[in-house]
Amino acid sequence: MTGVLGKWWFLSLLICSMLLLSPTVTSYPAESDKGRKKVVHVLEDEFGAVIVQTAPGKVVTHRGGTITLPCRFHHEPENVDPSRIRIKWTKVSDEFQFQDVFVALGRQQRVFGPYRGRVELERAGPGDASVIIHNVTLQDYGRYECEVTNDMEDDTGFVNLDLEGVVFPYYPRLGRYRLNYHEAEEACKHQDAILASHSQLHKAWKDGLDWCNAGWLEDGSVQYPVAHPRDQCGRKDTPGVRNYGYRHKEDERYDAFCFTSKLNGQVYFLKRFKKVNYTEAVKACVREGAVMAKVGQLYAAWKFQLLDRCDAGWVEDGSVRYPIVNPRARCGGPDPGVRNLGFPEKKFRLYGVYCFRKDLVNSETEATQALVQSSSVFTTSTQSI
Ligand SMILES: *[C@@H]1O[C@H](CO)[C@@H](O)[C@H](O)[C@H]1NC(C)=O
Ligand SMILES: *[C@@H]1O[C@H](CO)[C@@H](O)[C@H](O)[C@H]1NC(C)=O
Repeated sequence: MTGVLGKWWFLSLLICSMLLLSPTVTSYPAESDKGRKKVVHVLEDEFGAVIVQTAPGKVVTHRGGTITLPCRFHHEPENVDPSRIRIKWTKVSDEFQFQDVFVALGRQQRVFGPYRGRVELERAGPGDASVIIHNVTLQDYGRYECEVTNDMEDDTGFVNLDLEGVVFPYYPRLGRYRLNYHEAEEACKHQDAILASHSQLHKAWKDGLDWCNAGWLEDGSVQYPVAHPRDQCGRKDTPGVRNYGYRHKEDERYDAFCFTSKLNGQVYFLKRFKKVNYTEAVKACVREGAVMAKVGQLYAAWKFQLLDRCDAGWVEDGSVRYPIVNPRARCGGPDPGVRNLGFPEKKFRLYGVYCFRKDLVNSETEATQALVQSSSVFTTSTQSI
């Protein structure tokens, strides 16, 4: 009896000390800590226990960044053969959608799919199940599960990977409300972006995004953010994110809300070619060793490069836009934003052009070369998902 009590006492103490020693996280906003502490669950019987501890809240980075997904574990009895400890990371898109990321069993490791060559174990000492993701992509955004298993027991913890970025509404030359879900997904991809999540749209709304046309989100819902309520945009008295709910992905057509993050390059207005038609604009960028900027790239440059330019310019999809950080009267109104003049005829020689040039050096992936790839040991464990 005292043995069992003693063990529980020891575990509580351990959990407390682990909370104090929780791993370094690049940043998570203080206000999000509250109420987000992971509930540690302990499984224990005569075979021993595994306890997993993830950091509270979320970790934040940007596209191209390197980030640690923190996860620690402790097991009892402590003399368990380390080669029998399995660490598994899974991305959890929703209740029914899982994606394998990483598995380690003893010294053997395997990295899956788009994470190959980018994910490694942190190895900051015994009990560290954290992984490091290099060259973070837009698709990495989301919720991850860390699962640690010894012969008999397992425990899991969760970490949310958040990206700094920008949400923008998008519709194609065809016009408003022309995209079904799959086309919206493609449209965002063509603009160097992905469909935004609900929480990304919500954050953008809090930061002032106001758009009175409904657009697809990544979860298949259709919503739009209203910062300045008005008659034609839902209820006229309350600001908020209006929600049409989950819509038919093939048959129904709306605009899209896209999300993008930091660029591995620069967007700039081409000064030497002030007025060009669309064909000349394409050539002008190429002559510079660049390409025309995509809509997502222009938004990213506005957000991260603070690109501010009161000159309308062609972008790659055939629309004409310009980015304003410091609003002024003759540059499209009182709010910062990327102005959109729509899709003029491509022959018009009335606008300049925004080009995008990739950075020549990018050192993000150095540390990922030496990763061990596959091992037959994991075949069964990954099939069981
Ligand atoms: C743009 O102008 C060039 C001549 O400089 C012409 O060859 C081209 O067809 C024009 N493009 C369009 C889309 O009208
Ligand atoms: C980082 O990832 C992006 C997108 O997957 C890729 O285009 C780029 O080449 C990668 N960078 C490096 C340095 O590998």
